[in-house]
Amino acid sequence: MRVTVIGSGYVGLVASVCFSELGHDVISIDNDAHKIALLSAGEVPIYEKYLPELLEKHLGKRLKFSTDIVEAVRASSVVFIAVGTPATPEGDSDLSYVEAVARALASAINDYKVVVEKSTVPVFTSEWIRKIMLLNGVSHELFDVASNPEFLREGTAVRDFLFPDRIVLGADTKRSGAMLQEIYAPLSSGKFYQSNSLVPTPAEAKIPPLVITTSTKSAELIKHASNAFLAMKISFINAVANVCEAVGADINEVCEGIGTDSRIGRRFLNPGIGYGGSCFPKDLRSFQAVAKDAGYEFRLLQEIIAVNEQQLTRFMRKLRTALWTLRGKRLAVLGLAFKGGTDDIRESPALCLVQSLIKEGCQVRAYDPAAMARTQEYLVSPNLEFAASPYAAAEGADGLLILTDWEEFTHLDLPRLRKLMAYPIVLDGRNLYDPQLMAQNGFTYYSVGRAFAMPPQTTAVQTQSLA
Ligand code: UGA
Repeated sequence: MRVTVIGSGYVGLVASVCFSELGHDVISIDNDAHKIALLSAGEVPIYEKYLPELLEKHLGKRLKFSTDIVEAVRASSVVFIAVGTPATPEGDSDLSYVEAVARALASAINDYKVVVEKSTVPVFTSEWIRKIMLLNGVSHELFDVASNPEFLREGTAVRDFLFPDRIVLGADTKRSGAMLQEIYAPLSSGKFYQSNSLVPTPAEAKIPPLVITTSTKSAELIKHASNAFLAMKISFINAVANVCEAVGADINEVCEGIGTDSRIGRRFLNPGIGYGGSCFPKDLRSFQAVAKDAGYEFRLLQEIIAVNEQQLTRFMRKLRTALWTLRGKRLAVLGLAFKGGTDDIRESPALCLVQSLIKEGCQVRAYDPAAMARTQEYLVSPNLEFAASPYAAAEGADGLLILTDWEEFTHLDLPRLRKLMAYPIVLDGRNLYDPQLMAQNGFTYYSVGRAFAMPPQTTAVQTQSLA
């Protein structure tokens, strides 16, 4: 099929490249001429596995980039809207980019098109798009508005797109529903999985994926509700972790005990310093605003957000317990991205903590495998420097903080780290290590929802002094 994707940001770019991989002819549109020039030259502006390879495979063949929305729309039968929907200061979604696209579509449409929302938008956005297009003179026979929410995660976006758990198609007319089905037919029929894609099949892939057809409004709600539910799992387990700390239980054991109940599931039950990123924080606030506008006070969402914010304060308190005063302390920080596998620092809890440390007068030396360049653009302070490796960050440090769950941080050379640090104190905000192993390697180790651990000789001294 001939497809236009408006917006070449995270979702739009991944969708464009993956639709090409499914065999469609795609035009990816953005009004940022610089970005379009970069992409047309085969350069990928974001850090995402398999994206460079797929871009190289399809660029100039099934995939082209352009700033000309009118030409692209006229050449396509389906138009996906994947522009940004940033949060307003009040917490609801700023839909002005979506509205601008709807107006542009109105001036471009010359025959029947399906206009599909792919950006995360509040329920009723499809109705607004429809109204704007009608108001701008497009006949109702010339278009339908549908919703096809995206569930991809940064870092595994291409894999999530091509091997989804489910595909949600929200359409209110048979014609638009059928066209959406056709777009995803290579996945839903299983045909794509017989081809030789350069993206390997994940072990847990559901093949073929389930296709769920709904009304447009339900599809819009499914997206917000999914993200809110996942964030709720994270806040729930963080709250349980806090109770574990208070009563001396172990959150890992508790997670295993509850996560193995198939009704609950183990995924998204990893405690830590809270969720971040460009999706959960924004979507929870937006969902809250949507519910409020509809006359429902969704208090549970408020609590999820509050628990998430408290995780940062609790971590700072733990740091004070470990180091006493903070002014002038030299701290090694491992991780700046909002999670491992990405260079994205938007609403990163790691970065929030780094800002708090700087404010407290600490000297921070940070290392992140991918997010240092972005952090350098965003945060400049005489109290913040960057290191070339975890070990360079740790040299002479009074404490080491693990703030992002990068795979690279799960197998550090502990004896080497121990030798490099001035004081062997580790605060692990992602529970990447076994407390006993850390203690055996000479570290005083604090994590989330588990008792802190100390090297055996220190424990004796500590017990004596406490007595
Ligand atoms: C999230 C959803 O997982 C996707 O399904 C959705 O499509 C996407 O938002 C979106 O709306 O576009 P993403 O923000 O890329 O994806 O990242 P996640 O892997 O969900 O992680 C979000 C945050 O939660 C990260 O800060 C991560 O460290 C944290 N997290 C995740 C935990 O603290 N514990 C967990 O068990 C899982």
